[in-house]
Amino acid sequence: MAARVTRRIPIKYRFNEKIDRLGICIVLNFNFYAPTRIVFGKETQHEAGALLKPIAGKVLLHYGGGSVKKSGLYEQIAASLKKSGVAFAELGGVKPNPRLALVKEGIALCRHENVDLILAVGGGSVIDSAKAIAMGVFHDGDVWDIYEQRLPVKKALPVATVLTIPAAGSEMSGASVVTNEEKQMKLGYAADPLRPVLSVVNPELFSTLPKNQIANGVADMMSHIFERYFTNTTAVELTDELCEATLRVIMKNALIVVNDPSNYQAWCEIGFGGTIAHNDLLGVGRAQDWACHGMEHELSAIYDVPHGAGLAVLTPNWMEYVYNENPPMFAQFAVNVMGTRGSYREMDSVIREGIARLREFFRKMGLPATLSELGIGDSKLELMAKKATKVEYGIEERPLGGLRKLKWQDVLEIYKMAE
Ligand code: NZQ
Ligand code: ZN
Repeated sequence: MAARVTRRIPIKYRFNEKIDRLGICIVLNFNFYAPTRIVFGKETQHEAGALLKPIAGKVLLHYGGGSVKKSGLYEQIAASLKKSGVAFAELGGVKPNPRLALVKEGIALCRHENVDLILAVGGGSVIDSAKAIAMGVFHDGDVWDIYEQRLPVKKALPVATVLTIPAAGSEMSGASVVTNEEKQMKLGYAADPLRPVLSVVNPELFSTLPKNQIANGVADMMSHIFERYFTNTTAVELTDELCEATLRVIMKNALIVVNDPSNYQAWCEIGFGGTIAHNDLLGVGRAQDWACHGMEHELSAIYDVPHGAGLAVLTPNWMEYVYNENPPMFAQFAVNVMGTRGSYREMDSVIREGIARLREFFRKMGLPATLSELGIGDSKLELMAKKATKVEYGIEERPLGGLRKLKWQDVLEIYKMAE
């Protein structure tokens, strides 16, 4: 009888020996920098003014399309700033997949008003827009050049956040992702000065989220862990386990909040899970992947789909396409995260069962499973694959991914699998 794979049997030790002998990737040196103060818990939004008073004279209050007004959060933050004597200008109207045009408006406003800190009240889109403004204020040319040409950024206005949706992890990350609507491009950029100095996270604020936004957020934070977890780097036991535990806790509590958005305890688990999913603690010492994000940004850039929904569609297909590159890694995921049981001698079926369970989890969350559910047809798949790998721009191809390098033909194949 074949040996059974149980959750506690560390598959990686049995199979990664081969990888070690070939000399591939032992734990990498790293430099971990996470300077954000996280103020977490009930009613914490009322502390915003007092927390900012010592570090800001005039603040730009930046927010989205209306949820903060509807929930009363805008009034609470404005009252907190006034109470502490923090002056502020304001700029609302950030759209999901934040647009460059509003960023430029924000830069002009900050310069005109002599703002010295940007307070983003919202989700990833608002925070990323704030970060773009923060670095744009000190940049002489077009802020888009920083994203497109990867210009170094040494200085930016400090950014603080009051988080309203756990998802992007931007409240503690050094990244900003912005859409250039004219060029139909969505690009990310990361630099240490963009890491927020302060993020206020009150999970009570998440209770007003509609189900689709809850699901999108969960898919995104899970993807942030996947992008770090799936690696050819070996001897990274601690971060393996941190990734696996964080994924399990997020999934368990996601199924609770999607049915009961008033469950504060479950939101606390997801709220902090989303933050550590992307502050890079879980990725230190590991070669990271990021192919799914690269592929998804092309969907958002052209079709304006929610980032998390796009990731939910692409990720299981990516897993199916690449798992032969490192089957033990995917078997470990199937067993330790998805609770799959099976035989070591049938690793393929263990892995496929793990991926099937992930699809089932996304389905239970109400997430889409195909590009067509996102309203994406086949007419631009090749264009998106070429944009994602840069060949569309007439420059040398930049394959996506770390675990397996994906050329544009591979990306196209994954898009087709997801149709
Ligand atoms: O605009 P409002 O009216 O506020 O509505 C928002 C928006 O429509 C709504 N919402 C937010 N909080 C709410 C709420 N509705 C009710 N109650 C609340 N408490 O949710 C919608 C989505 O908001 P958005 O900020 O777009 O969501 P998310 O946090 O998922 O951010 C997505 C963006 O982050 C980028 C994505 O590419 C995307 O553009 N990312 C940023 C990263 C980073 N900076 O590190 C990493 C990620 O991988 C990601 O790429
Ligand atoms: Zn993401």
